[in-house]
Amino acid sequence: MRPTLIRVDPERPDPAALRPAAAALRRGKLVAFPTETVYGLGAHALRAAAVRRIFEAKRRPAFNPLIVHTLDAEAARALAARWPREAERLAERFWPGPLTLVLPRTAAVPDEVSAGLTTVALRVPAHPVAAALLRLAKIPVAAPSANRSNALSPTTAEHVLRGLGDRVDVIVDGGAAPVGIESAVVDLSGPEPLLLRPGTLSLERLREIVPELRAAGVETTADTPRPAPGMLARHYAPRAPLRLLPAGEISGGVAAAAGERIGAVLLRTDVAGIAVPLRMPAEPAGYAGRLYAALHELDAAGCTLILVEAPPDRPEWAGVLDRLRRASHL
Ligand code: TXA
Ligand code: MG
Repeated sequence: MRPTLIRVDPERPDPAALRPAAAALRRGKLVAFPTETVYGLGAHALRAAAVRRIFEAKRRPAFNPLIVHTLDAEAARALAARWPREAERLAERFWPGPLTLVLPRTAAVPDEVSAGLTTVALRVPAHPVAAALLRLAKIPVAAPSANRSNALSPTTAEHVLRGLGDRVDVIVDGGAAPVGIESAVVDLSGPEPLLLRPGTLSLERLREIVPELRAAGVETTADTPRPAPGMLARHYAPRAPLRLLPAGEISGGVAAAAGERIGAVLLRTDVAGIAVPLRMPAEPAGYAGRLYAALHELDAAGCTLILVEAPPDRPEWAGVLDRLRRASHL
């Protein structure tokens, strides 16, 4: 069956329009909804059967845990067995917003949510539609990005429909997700705070609150545990192979790709021979906001190769570069 589509104003969603979506969540259904980062595929976080449906719909491996979304920090804290000072301070500074905190979990959190780990990932989203939905549903909502496992994250309801279609019960359309890449994930459950996944909040800004925070390496080795499966080298990838090239090597990349239908994600470069050239904003926030939509567009246009002009290797670009490197990993 096709999902029920509910369209709401992104800034001032009508609670009456959202009520059926909240009721569906309470009944254990799957509801896709916009957050400020990307669209999430939500389910009742405290019901194992509902959570299992997320894994089936996405074909997500059972070892990859989910983020639980709550209306406020108090509701998030209720699911954590420990709430260290760093959690309090990060929550106060950055919630609601594109930050996820990993903490030891209470027994209320089903094993399915945490993929068997003793921790839970928690986030208070800032998007008015997500907040309104959580307010009406009155339950914590587990929600990974609303895409098939390993595919591109959706930043519009249209992306969700194209990727998951009838595997979702309800899709709430609240326009384009403004931040555009997934939240930063900070693990506070271990002996030292670790940035598991960079987002648009830079390491520098997070360190203003937690100075000892350090970035986890991209690759984990065989003898270290894999703390976040989002850290798998290949992830967040379009269908077409993606090559990340310095500006000066784009024209060489085009020349070497005879016979391909080339799509390109460009900053300054202007090169002939590209079937679908897309120009990106030159600052990281604008770029992140547009990135997945651009890659979805190139896939939809039937490109067989995507060339990306590498953004500058500077701290404010870390979240964007992380996603591009993973997308380009063969
Ligand atoms: O912005 C976002 O975070 C979006 C929106 C919908 O909130 N969600 C999202 O979910 O990106 P997902 O499932 O695509 O990514 C969740 C990330 C994964 O890298 C996962 O491994 C990590 O969070 N994660 C979840 N629970 C964890 C845990 N207990 N310990 C370590 N990492 C965890
Ligand atoms: Mg995802």
